[in-house]
Amino acid sequence: MSKKIRLGILGGGGDSLIGVLHRVASQINDNYEIVGAVFNPDFEANVAFAKEIDVPTNRIYKDFDTLVEEELKLPKEERIQVCSVLTPNFLHFPMAKKLLENGFHVICEKPMTTTYEEAKILQATLEKAKTVFAVTHTYTGYPMVRQMREMIKAGAIGKIHKVDAAYYQGWINSIIHDKAKRSTVWRLDPKKAGISSCMGDIGVHAFNMIEYTTGLTIKSILADFNYLYEDNQMDVDGTVLIRMDKHVKGVIRSSQVATGEENGLTIAIYGEKGGLRWEQENPNYLYVLSDDKPLQVYKPGHSYNSKLSLGGTKLPPGHPEGIFDSMANIYLGVARAIRGEKYNDGEFPTMMDGVRGLDFIESSVESNKKGNVWINLK
Ligand SMILES: NC(=O)c1ccc[n+]([C@@H]2O[C@H](COP(=O)([O-])OP(=O)(O)OC[C@H]3O[C@@H](n4cnc5c(N)ncnc54)[C@H](O)[C@@H]3O)[C@@H](O)[C@H]2O)c1
Repeated sequence: MSKKIRLGILGGGGDSLIGVLHRVASQINDNYEIVGAVFNPDFEANVAFAKEIDVPTNRIYKDFDTLVEEELKLPKEERIQVCSVLTPNFLHFPMAKKLLENGFHVICEKPMTTTYEEAKILQATLEKAKTVFAVTHTYTGYPMVRQMREMIKAGAIGKIHKVDAAYYQGWINSIIHDKAKRSTVWRLDPKKAGISSCMGDIGVHAFNMIEYTTGLTIKSILADFNYLYEDNQMDVDGTVLIRMDKHVKGVIRSSQVATGEENGLTIAIYGEKGGLRWEQENPNYLYVLSDDKPLQVYKPGHSYNSKLSLGGTKLPPGHPEGIFDSMANIYLGVARAIRGEKYNDGEFPTMMDGVRGLDFIESSVESNKKGNVWINLK
């Protein structure tokens, strides 16, 4: 019998953005086999897509509830072990909760839920379930982001005083100015996306990256959002000031109307002894800044990198690591956790990251609504 972990997929159909990333990433380290799915709410499209990508159709279900019901009838050694939840945001909570209640491991897209309250319920559900739960803050899987985390932990830049994370996209610019077009996008529909577009979709990645790389906790925030139109309910741009400690401050800059920007996630952390800077669109370079030495550039796969970083590279230096590898590293960490093997806590974002993310999203909306006031995170 195959030693591969039996993976189920929810959402992520042929019409989706993120499905291909999860499917390919799950295969990169030879740990998973896709055995069942509901790729799409339309059953015909669902089956057609399964055939297209060569997933056996006997476990392609008409909807999520049927998947759970039918899988539970199978012997444990045949049943789906872990499900990836890749649907629009509003379905993450009901799907993840039911999966946990029925003993499945879960890999959940971000934002983990649409409210903080749901996030706390999910956290309590996981405590009872005792299964593995990961939130796919994809960028934490990059070798040079992991290197950044390990260098900061080892004191390479000394005491941190300034953090700056930006996530700039421009794609909503072509949609937001047309009232009819605006209503066709689920990310601009609060019923499907939750209370925030820009912070909920991408600002939350920047938030997570700051806490992931620094190991520090963001304590309070002040947000200033732009909605562009009075009748648009969802933020499409925002700046969030952050305080981590009395003398550790910074900013999250996030936009979906930064015209011409593609997937411009950047993070810079400055400390008393030096700085570190990384850019998602050039992910193989980690810049090390210093007051008294020339600029250094760290690259993946070299022995000078940390164990955590090296664990995320598969080929010798000079073979670029990209977004598929980054997600694959998260799947690899989850595979280790499912198998009960030892893993580093930097290998995949957890329930706590999901809960913190929802606290950030709700608090930033509240701060903006109340006239840009400081809000303490919980
Ligand atoms: N980690 C990242 O960097 C990243 C990047 C992009 C998107 N995402 C997240 O991934 C999720 C999906 O985003 P997307 O851009 O792929 O959305 P999308 O609209 O492109 O695709 C959604 C998919 O879900 C399917 N779906 C909808 N309702 C369903 C249901 N009831 N049952 C089964 N399938 C259903 C659709 O048919 C489609 O295939 C979102 O939560 C988003 O925030 C994360």
